Amino acid sequence: MATNYRSLVILTGAGISAESGLGTFRDKDGLWTKYDLRDVATPEGFERNPALVHDFYNARRRNLIEAAPNPAHAALAALERAWPGDFLLVTQNVDDLHERAGSTKLLHMHGELLKIRCESCGNVLPCREDIDLSSACPACATPGYMRPHVVWFGEMPFYMDRIEQALNGCDLFVSIGTSGNVYPAAGFVAEARRRRAHTVELNLEPSEGFSHFAEKRYGAASEIVPAYVQELLR
Ligand code: APR
Repeated sequence: MATNYRSLVILTGAGISAESGLGTFRDKDGLWTKYDLRDVATPEGFERNPALVHDFYNARRRNLIEAAPNPAHAALAALERAWPGDFLLVTQNVDDLHERAGSTKLLHMHGELLKIRCESCGNVLPCREDIDLSSACPACATPGYMRPHVVWFGEMPFYMDRIEQALNGCDLFVSIGTSGNVYPAAGFVAEARRRRAHTVELNLEPSEGFSHFAEKRYGAASEIVPAYVQELLR
């Protein structure tokens, strides 16, 4: 393998799952053009109308269960298996398509759609069914406190310590299928550059932070990600 890079951090966003039939957020027919994120993706919105929020995530959960990983997910799983050095895949996505493609060195910084959390006892549990206000916590049996185990706007993302540690030591940072609108993820490229890492953007179109990247490739993830991985492993 010719690459001189040793420590790799990859960041993915909704664009990598678009070709698996999972909507992105900010594209022309994205989720935030159909829903007001303040209603369905904030603690305040959940407080105001929990039934609306449950309907939103129940529909996404059902959709996810029908979806399948695409060649971009498969290419990253193959890269993880072949990569000789440090490897970390950080995803903003709440879907499980990376895992289903075989990725293991993976952190879901915005949570996971196939998990629910009890706001009474704090337990996090797997979930493949619809939930609503009458759903009781399997652990503490309290009804009415179950919520999707996802990070809403105004809440702290998960695993920030491990992500920053990996960014501190990386010499290659690759960002795939994200618009670069949401922090702290949108700031990772600047952190990686501060550490003199080589930075690569793979996306359908230039992201908000495109000027930060040393290398850019544009096209559909299912095409450009396998091609880039093949080059990296050549
Ligand atoms: N291949 C590659 N890139 C694609 C594809 C595709 N097939 N389809 C869309 N894209 C790109 C778009 O050009 C856009 O830049 O994916 C990006 C998706 O951007 P967003 O919809 O903003 O999604 P993301 O960046 O993941 O959002 C970040 O915002 O809403 C919150 O918590 C949510 O994790 C999410 C965060």
